[in-house]
Amino acid sequence: MMDPYDRYELMVNGAVMKNPLVLSSMAGIVDAAYVNARKDLVGMACIGGFSIDQRTMEASRELAAAGRKEFLYDDPVAAIAAQVAQMAEIGVICALNLRGSSPASFRAVAEAIGPSVVYEIDAHCRQAPLVSAGCGEYLLKHQDALFATIRALKEAGVCVSVKIRAGVAEDDRALVKGITAAGADILHVDLMDFGHAKLRQLRNSCPLLIIANNSITTFSAAKDMLAHGADMLSLARQATPETLRGLDKDLARYADETGWYNAPKQLCRGGDIRALTFCCMPVKQCPLIPTLEHLDIPRNEFMTLKLDLVKNTPLAGGENTCFGSLAWCCKSSTPCMFRNMALKEQGLSLHDYMRYKRRLSEKLMQRVFDADAFYAPE
Ligand SMILES: Cc1cc2nc3c(=O)[nH]c(=O)nc-3n(C[C@H](O)[C@H](O)[C@H](O)COP(=O)(O)O)c2cc1C
Ligand code: SF4
Ligand code: SF4
Repeated sequence: MMDPYDRYELMVNGAVMKNPLVLSSMAGIVDAAYVNARKDLVGMACIGGFSIDQRTMEASRELAAAGRKEFLYDDPVAAIAAQVAQMAEIGVICALNLRGSSPASFRAVAEAIGPSVVYEIDAHCRQAPLVSAGCGEYLLKHQDALFATIRALKEAGVCVSVKIRAGVAEDDRALVKGITAAGADILHVDLMDFGHAKLRQLRNSCPLLIIANNSITTFSAAKDMLAHGADMLSLARQATPETLRGLDKDLARYADETGWYNAPKQLCRGGDIRALTFCCMPVKQCPLIPTLEHLDIPRNEFMTLKLDLVKNTPLAGGENTCFGSLAWCCKSSTPCMFRNMALKEQGLSLHDYMRYKRRLSEKLMQRVFDADAFYAPE
């Protein structure tokens, strides 16, 4: 069996994800026992949501009294610590989906539980009692409070995920830029009915690991999300062992076949900006030109950049390809005799070619999202 790191090259909070599947939280339902019943099928689980202070615990009690499922307890830290202890035995990366009414509440939990788990801020819930308690959607409308919470968690030295619902904030692009600037590590987005166009918009706005969510229950939906910017996929309502088993199997086969499980579509086919790795030299009128202008990368710089980044790698070869280097060559799904001959000369499979293209894409994204650090001397 292939090693999961070789297959997906995906790590969260210092641990290898066995696959890109995530259990998305459902209050009153998703706990360690629920994860245990699916432990071989997912890489990460967001357990909870857990209310973590007086105001949010009261909101949970109100919701439970009205018939909703909620996790109820008197001492949130003790209840969460017990869950974390069980999760440690299960072998699935643990994230805690938390509802708190102040940055201090989140920080207190992080200081008590420590950095072995991911802290997911619930900026998603739209139940009125929780929103009135200053969490869930409230944080998408009062973003300074969200950013302060991210900063408080980062000061406690932990890995931070932010769960949002698309289309609630005034401008989702500005929101994820703010989330990035505040120091978060992961964006977990419920895409509602917006689909892959919204995901691509978010992917093009931030370098965070992205978990795509909402109705991703088939391999075709999963592939669509991966090709438009998702690193991981989460399921809540349909997270049955049968559905997860099917996705796990199909994703593994796809990753083994292609070499890059979440390779973007080419830019001219609607791909996100990671697809710059597949782009030609900027010599014709095509979507590359406005994309570079938007990113404020001069064409000359793009030419030098790609060639510099492939130096001393097999992608530097390929003098008989269209632009004289595999740096400019298309995605493996585009058939091409010239590229394939160049790969043969290098002793490279299409699978390996895609792995090198992934490396190139990662470096290009470093330049796009942090030009200052990219050009700073070592
Ligand atoms: C019963 C139920 C409870 C939920 N509780 C939470 C929660 O506590 N925190 C949260 O961030 N999302 C919560 N969600 C949202 C889910 O995690 C997920 O974002 C949503 O159901 C869409 O994904 P799906 O199509 O895979 O179900 C809940 C969803 C359901 C159905
Ligand atoms: S440079 Fe090539 S791959 Fe990129 S958008 Fe233009 S035609 Fe498509
Ligand atoms: S040689 Fe083939 S793969 Fe390379 S840029 Fe030309 S058409 Fe694309």
